[in-house]
Amino acid sequence: MSSIKDEINRRRTFAIISHPDAGKTTLTEKFLLYGGAINLAGSVKGKATARHAVSDWMEIEKQRGISVTSSVLQFEYDGFCINILDTPGHQDFSEDTYRTLMAADSAVMVIDGSKGVEAQTRKLFKVCVMRHIPIFTFINKMDRDAMDTFELLDDIEKELGIATCPLNWPIGSGKNFKGVYDREKKCVISYSDTEKGTKEGKTEEISVDDGEKLKSLVGEEAAENLLSEIELLDGASAEFDLDEVRAGNLTPVCFGSALTNFGVEIFLKHFLNMTTTPLPRMSDSGLIDPVNNDFSAFVFKIQANMNKAHRDRVAFMRIVSGKFDATKEVRHVQGGKTLRLSQPQQIMADERKILSEAYGGDIIGVFDPGIFSIGDTVCAPADKFAFEGIPTFAPEHFARVRQLDTMKRKQFVKGIEQIAQEGAIQIFQEYNTGLEEIIVGVVGVLQFDVLKYRLENEYNVDIKLENLPYEHIRWIENKEQFDIPKLTGTSDMKKVKDMKGNPLLLFVNSWSIGMTVERNKGLILTEFSKN
Ligand code: G4P
Repeated sequence: MSSIKDEINRRRTFAIISHPDAGKTTLTEKFLLYGGAINLAGSVKGKATARHAVSDWMEIEKQRGISVTSSVLQFEYDGFCINILDTPGHQDFSEDTYRTLMAADSAVMVIDGSKGVEAQTRKLFKVCVMRHIPIFTFINKMDRDAMDTFELLDDIEKELGIATCPLNWPIGSGKNFKGVYDREKKCVISYSDTEKGTKEGKTEEISVDDGEKLKSLVGEEAAENLLSEIELLDGASAEFDLDEVRAGNLTPVCFGSALTNFGVEIFLKHFLNMTTTPLPRMSDSGLIDPVNNDFSAFVFKIQANMNKAHRDRVAFMRIVSGKFDATKEVRHVQGGKTLRLSQPQQIMADERKILSEAYGGDIIGVFDPGIFSIGDTVCAPADKFAFEGIPTFAPEHFARVRQLDTMKRKQFVKGIEQIAQEGAIQIFQEYNTGLEEIIVGVVGVLQFDVLKYRLENEYNVDIKLENLPYEHIRWIENKEQFDIPKLTGTSDMKKVKDMKGNPLLLFVNSWSIGMTVERNKGLILTEFSKN
């Protein structure tokens, strides 16, 4: 029997970040293929079918065929127990997508080789930087014509401000893609057709010093290009330094093609070699160590209304330390109570499995009778610490909400406050007035539909949303130092407050943010709120 320590140490928990269509789903499928979780690539998360299977949680998801929630996948590979946190994209991008990153110990960034860094990657990357977690880059779609490799790396360094260290180097792209050069082993791994990744590719490793063999394998021109690129690269790229990788300052980069299953296992092996075991987490009693502390976890996401008939909610928890045993009581620190977590389950892409035990690094979903909030701590009954809270992330879309039937004010306020408490939306008021006017802010526009749908269906309240032109919101970090009504901003700036009374500023464009900071000496504006 393996010990708790062994179980925790073999866990690796990471999120995949990318812009939609870069190949996140395809790469995940290939990981699962290597882990033996599926037999044939494509059978797990074939978009249309699997998404419907997961998504009957909420009518709105079914209607649109998309998944509002992010899911977790667990698989075994080479003795590791791997948890992948999916970060949903497109219109289903929401604050939950950001929060998911608070539960991961590292991130895999998938970039389309023909496009470079794109908008959604940029947004998610910021959260990874805030947490200083390691980021591993997979440059995908090398079987299609790609940007120049040096340009791609330059793009990552300039756009994201992180140094890159290629672990391998592509030989050509598109029709001329011949494979990758492994910088450590100094050999070429040749690309062969894998019939869309459904069978193992034949890889041949040859030394770059074997000039004749290299030419016959990749062709004369590609061989010459490769040799000169290697020379350039060895002179120009950052030295590999595992401490820098672990600190999130240097991203190791691999190239490949998820669709044709080339370079995926190479990447997975490098990744597992370099990423961390479950990380400790700060609490008000200091760092909580995954192995030396008893069971503890924090809530990073609340999924409401999976079953409309019961109005139930599921709280997703990241286990930070120890072993979770479903038969034992735990302390809910913020609620001040001990309780048994009911119906603990592992939420997979297309199924939910009741589980009796789990370990530091794992993610579990538990039935929530309405007692948990995002950021809450659960721990062993004898412990009393609380983990650091989860930040609130800046919404990018704003609307004024009006209830159509003024008689239903109470239900309206109750509903909107409850939905805000679950973290699906943020609510603000005009700085100087009462609750009469409510402004809603969301990270992804779909949340507006979710709000409207839920108020109608659960609270029997019809609302009208009137879009506002603001795109940026900023918290005032040093609010004590300013007389808020007297702050001078640009003419389009709006002052609001959140439900706790904190002042915030709304802006139409980023230029106005700069102007406002300039006009109010010493003003510190932030994109995340720690309280
Ligand atoms: P996402 O989860 O990041 O949104 O991307 P996803 O894996 O769904 O991939 C988006 C599209 O890109 C898919 O094509 C997929 O087959 C393709 N793709 C992924 N990896 C590669 C690759 O390495 N090379 C090439 N050439 N294509 C790749 P689709 O036509 O939109 O969907 P489908 O009909 O193939 O499912």
